[in-house]
Amino acid sequence: MEEVEVAEEERDHWSGRLPFILAAMGSAIGLGNVWRFPYIAYENGGGAFLIPYFIALLTTGIPLMALEFGLGYKFLSGAPKAFSMVDRRLAWVGWLSIFLGFLILSFYTVIMAWALIYMFFSFDSSWGSTPHEIEGFFFNDFLNISSGPTVIGGFQPMIFVGLIVIWICIYLILNKGVQRVGKVVLITVPLPIILLIILFIRGITLPGAMDGIEYYLTPDSSKLGDANVWLAAYGQIFFTLSLAQGVMIAYASYLPKKSEIMNNATIISLANCGTSFFAGLVVFSILGFVQHETGQPIGSGASGPHLAFITYPIAISQMGGASALFGVIFFLMLLTLGIDSAFSMVEALTAGLEDLGWEHEKAVRFFVIIGLSIGLLFVTSVSFWLIHLIDHFAVGIGIVIVGLIEVLVIGYVMKPEELREFINEHSEVKIGYWWDAMIRYVTPIILIFIIVWTLKDGFEFTGESVPNNVVEYPPWLVFAGGYGLIFVLVIAALYMQRRFTEWH
Ligand code: PHE
Repeated sequence: MEEVEVAEEERDHWSGRLPFILAAMGSAIGLGNVWRFPYIAYENGGGAFLIPYFIALLTTGIPLMALEFGLGYKFLSGAPKAFSMVDRRLAWVGWLSIFLGFLILSFYTVIMAWALIYMFFSFDSSWGSTPHEIEGFFFNDFLNISSGPTVIGGFQPMIFVGLIVIWICIYLILNKGVQRVGKVVLITVPLPIILLIILFIRGITLPGAMDGIEYYLTPDSSKLGDANVWLAAYGQIFFTLSLAQGVMIAYASYLPKKSEIMNNATIISLANCGTSFFAGLVVFSILGFVQHETGQPIGSGASGPHLAFITYPIAISQMGGASALFGVIFFLMLLTLGIDSAFSMVEALTAGLEDLGWEHEKAVRFFVIIGLSIGLLFVTSVSFWLIHLIDHFAVGIGIVIVGLIEVLVIGYVMKPEELREFINEHSEVKIGYWWDAMIRYVTPIILIFIIVWTLKDGFEFTGESVPNNVVEYPPWLVFAGGYGLIFVLVIAALYMQRRFTEWH
């Protein structure tokens, strides 16, 4: 116990409750809310998706966020050390979660770099004016996309410069510790929400908007019997709440004495999911408008990068007056949404190294350099294909598996009642036995069931469709880039556990 108290005195900490809540909220509310949620919801049953999503929020999202806050706060350490304090043989769980976050971060920052560059393109609509031109511009001029996932193709200097700018921002925000983070989030959390509200007002007043919203909210209940829909809901909840990647553990480890846990976890989770739902309204009103103006069906404009980098510019091109302004607002919103999620993932990593005695700034510098180097892979013409593959495995199933391991560790190695007592000592609203039951039975059973069910039905990777072309990925690539990569992360995590044993 003594060791923990010493650590607390030396440990950097938030200057109050607000900076902590905002930082955790900023981590949660990111590209996942505006870029990922609407199309995942749409692909998985539209309005009907909200049911598994809400169930996932209640059975996993909120209880797990409280769990991660409790762990970080109790042990005053990042994920690897926190798990190692639970049981010295379990540090790998913490390492695995932060490595997985890092993998996701490596392409997350690339999408932010795209948004940064597109913000500048907005000034003069560099992407052209017709839907056809805008689409061609994104794939050919901007990404210079290679002919398939096995062709690396050329290097894209402009995207690389964008990526460097993003990483420099991350460095400058993080290098002085969480006190500075606490100030930055005073801007980067409310600003994108304000921009989203402006876009909402613009969006719903456009012709065709209601058709889009109806499309988004009309439930396709036949989807509820599909394992992939449930997996998608749980995967999205982990991703959107920044769970199972060591972020919330690291952030809670900087909490000052006498902090609150349970209310914070609930407020942050609800604010995040409310933002997603709201972002869906904005996005689909814009899709409805695009259909109205160009005849492009709503569904075809909804998915992934197409949405932010093709469909939205098409909408802008149809808006007439002030279109440049709405372009800048949209991409600035994406950037400010993404930045606090991105630096939170880096913070999860640096907290891990700091617990090994590294200086904070050195750890930040180290990961910025590594992150940028890995990012090099995503500034080539093959990036679009790779991002799709890695997102499918790392976000689609990787975090659900890591989340499952996390609840099993707390449920059966640490015992949830021990953590619950700690959480209750630090909560305005006390949690009851239901929480133990959630962690021990409900959540793991649901997660195991979903994972097994999905694997049985085939966790298909269907290839990526670009205009007029569905490209098949060779099986070796799917295997290597999907399961292979997850395997490498597990090996790396086990290596770290063996190599660094100083916590005991
Ligand atoms: N929650 C973020 C989003 O929705 C992504 C994220 C995942 C951030 C994991 C940190 C850790 O965009």
